Amino acid sequence: MLTINNAVKIFSQGTPNEHKALSGLNLHLERGEFVTVVGSNGAGKSTMFNAICGNFLLNSGSIFVDGQNITYMKEHKRAGFIGRVFQDPMKGTAPNLTIEENLALAYSRQKTGPFGAAVNKKNRDMFKEALSEFNMGLEDRMQTKVGLLSGGQRQVVTLLMCTLVTPKLLLLDEHTAALDPATAEKVMEITERIVDRNNLTTLMITHNLNSALRTGTRTIMMDSGNIILDVSGEERAKMTLDDLLNMYSLKKKEAFDNDRMLLS
Ligand SMILES: Nc1ncnc2c1ncn2[C@@H]1O[C@H](COP(=O)(O)OP(=O)(O)O)[C@@H](O)[C@H]1O
Ligand SMILES: [Mg+2]
Repeated sequence: MLTINNAVKIFSQGTPNEHKALSGLNLHLERGEFVTVVGSNGAGKSTMFNAICGNFLLNSGSIFVDGQNITYMKEHKRAGFIGRVFQDPMKGTAPNLTIEENLALAYSRQKTGPFGAAVNKKNRDMFKEALSEFNMGLEDRMQTKVGLLSGGQRQVVTLLMCTLVTPKLLLLDEHTAALDPATAEKVMEITERIVDRNNLTTLMITHNLNSALRTGTRTIMMDSGNIILDVSGEERAKMTLDDLLNMYSLKKKEAFDNDRMLLS
């Protein structure tokens, strides 16, 4: 479903600030794989997502989604089949539009024809039903402006916006990191349910190593713009937090520089 070949991204090339954020990264995801992504700050995790979404062009390498070469495809075109949720709950939704208007906008964006946040009866019923499954009471607040919702509620609306029309790829960038633990847990549950039901091919960046091992089917660890660890199946099922940290130390021969990653 997703193939990244030898991706290189160099920021500020030719200046004293030159930095290779992706250094020959290779990754292949089968359809329906749910891969968690860990790695210390600055490892290149978000840069990998930015590359997939087309925020910039690679210096070299190529990216394929579903057999199609998207290496040079415009960002807005990729947005039609890639869903992305950021850490910041403010990012995915329009605060001055209501829940149903946000959903209508997301729903119309995926199709040809006029763009708009107009809501008709049929869509309203569909949105309501989808929201009610999350047991957050959002189905009774369809006309509430999204800016009035809590961070967790906004992340759930964003998740639904990204998946109303099934994306080929779902990218979650620490999407629960800004939430309190109980809300984060709830949003993770909803995430897993959405991914499961739609059999979505998913990459989820998380700083929570426990969650990384518990969630999904495969875990990759990034460091200095590359993947240094890739575990799945039985090896992953048996893996403890300590194993993961030890393997990292083994690869890196140095301790994690990010205290957050040690918290679970
Ligand atoms: N737009 C940019 N311009 C310059 N440097 C960048 C840019 N985006 C990311 N970087 C640098 O690339 C490295 C990887 O960043 P990032 O992918 O955000 O790391 P993380 O793994 O924490 O998500 C960091 O050193 C970061 O400062
Ligand atoms: Mg990041």
